[in-house]
Amino acid sequence: MIVALQTETNQPISISQIPKPVAAAGQVVVGLKAAALNHRDVFVQEGKYPGINLPVVLGSDGAGVVVAVGEGVSDALLGREVVINPALNWGVNPAFYGKDFKILGMPDNGTFAEFIAIDAKNCYAKPSHLSFEAAAALPLAALTGWRALMGRAGLKAGERVLVTGIGGGVALFVLQFAVATGAEVWVTSGSDDKIERAVALGAKGGVNYRQADWLKKLMEVTGGGRAGYFDVIIDSAGGPSFAKLTDAAALGARICFFGGTNGNITDIVPSKVFFKQLNILGSTMGSDAEFADMLTFVEKYQIQPVIDSIFPLEQAQTALARMNEGLQFGKIVLKIG
Ligand SMILES: NC(=O)c1ccc[n+]([C@@H]2O[C@H](COP(=O)([O-])OP(=O)(O)OC[C@H]3O[C@@H](n4cnc5c(N)ncnc54)[C@H](OP(=O)(O)O)[C@@H]3O)[C@@H](O)[C@H]2O)c1
Repeated sequence: MIVALQTETNQPISISQIPKPVAAAGQVVVGLKAAALNHRDVFVQEGKYPGINLPVVLGSDGAGVVVAVGEGVSDALLGREVVINPALNWGVNPAFYGKDFKILGMPDNGTFAEFIAIDAKNCYAKPSHLSFEAAAALPLAALTGWRALMGRAGLKAGERVLVTGIGGGVALFVLQFAVATGAEVWVTSGSDDKIERAVALGAKGGVNYRQADWLKKLMEVTGGGRAGYFDVIIDSAGGPSFAKLTDAAALGARICFFGGTNGNITDIVPSKVFFKQLNILGSTMGSDAEFADMLTFVEKYQIQPVIDSIFPLEQAQTALARMNEGLQFGKIVLKIG
């Protein structure tokens, strides 16, 4: 079968032939119709991820059809259209994953492939309103956004939400989930065009974080004063600008982050956090129950993932380069077969 294989750090993916996987006990083989990229794939390619183990088939996101079942798995699954949950072995504690937790697509072979062997319990029915490409855009990003916004920050209808870096794959799902919940959503981006596109998806407005006074501008357009404005802030950039989020936060707000694209968080003024009674929360991926809840929400509100572009599997390297340049708005998808 054809796969996109990362053989060496900082080298382009090689399109290779490897043997088709076989379903072990408890597993199925999924014939993948589509996969999608996450920033994680770029980090693995660049060697900027813990525990790199090469060669590896990259890719955490995939959707396809069950073509074989292993021992102990019902034949009824054959032919099922599924989307794969890439959070492997979360375990029983909803607050934190267990010691065997890992993310599909390193160290285990991932979804940039024609076939994958995966535990049957990680396969969920593809939402019926979604194409394979749209369903493949969901798993890692939508799960991460769902837990950050709902599980950790506990968003309620009517609250004011700020989503930073709206061009990001996770950030766009957070926007869509928050709008569907009935929140007032604002965004930041390094691109005015991306802010306009976020407004078309239901955001109330946004500011460009490349302007030095973006926080002041944001408080002006929202009418927020010195006490801040947002009940919930979702960030993945981290870095020096994170401290400004404590000014944007309303009294008692929840700031949840799940990434550190811009490096270490610096210069947070402690008194701003404790006098304002802020909650700063970290989040990673999500539990099996959260994956199921996210899919139910996507079906209920007929959410269509925002797809930036679709490349054939054979052009996975071009797709990774696009993500690395940060040009995308929404998910970059690979069409397989
Ligand atoms: N912990 C987890 O479970 C988990 C899961 C998924 C992702 N992550 C992490 O979260 C981050 C985003 O992942 P992704 O896959 O969504 O990546 P992505 O699609 O490549 O998005 C990255 C986005 O970061 C934004 N950004 C860059 N500099 C910024 C700044 N100074 N302020 C605000 N936003 C800024 C950009 O937004 P604009 O284009 O709008 O400027 C860009 O689109 C990565 O660090 C990733 O490793 C963690």
